[in-house]
Amino acid sequence: MEDIWFATVHKDYYFDVNSVMHNKKVVAPYRVNGKPKDWQDTADGQFRLTYPSNCWDDISIPYWSMSENTDHPTQKPEKLLAKLLLASSPVNAMVFDPFLGSGSTSVTAKKLNRRYCGVEINRDYCRWAEKRLAQADTDKNIQGYTSGWFWERNTLHEQKKERINKLP
Ligand SMILES: C[S@@+](CC[C@H](N)C(=O)[O-])C[C@H]1O[C@@H](n2cnc3c(N)ncnc32)[C@H](O)[C@@H]1O
Repeated sequence: MEDIWFATVHKDYYFDVNSVMHNKKVVAPYRVNGKPKDWQDTADGQFRLTYPSNCWDDISIPYWSMSENTDHPTQKPEKLLAKLLLASSPVNAMVFDPFLGSGSTSVTAKKLNRRYCGVEINRDYCRWAEKRLAQADTDKNIQGYTSGWFWERNTLHEQKKERINKLP
């Protein structure tokens, strides 16, 4: 468990909660006049778009089977960074991480069309970050985030279907 602090230097700050909506499987599919009440009935299942809560239980460490995984001992998942960047920075904003590690912040910023700058003392970690940044030229996927919203854990199957359905 980790705390996340949101700090601003001015009363005028950027915060876009609508960009970090969650697509949750519906447990109780209530209907009114036979129609879904605040949820969507799709070919892939029944889902409801909701605002994120204060406790985020949909984040996992980058497991070995995930393409973003490196040997960095404390690597942050791109899904976590995506939430932070989308909610608190507009497109083209500059994102700075003074402890970049394997590059998760910069890689996610690149995938989400933000500019980025990072500092890392360990040369190997810098190389891993550069490799991931190069891969982001051709692969903009962020596991757990498709179609403009976030998915719960263990929904990779539904995410892949969603991605395939969106292909031209
Ligand atoms: C908690 S890790 C960050 C992990 C990163 N968020 C990621 O997803 O890979 C902190 C990083 O800060 C680096 N670091 C520690 N002291 C530093 C310093 N003085 N200047 C630059 N980097 C430093 C460490 O090498 C380590 O990779």
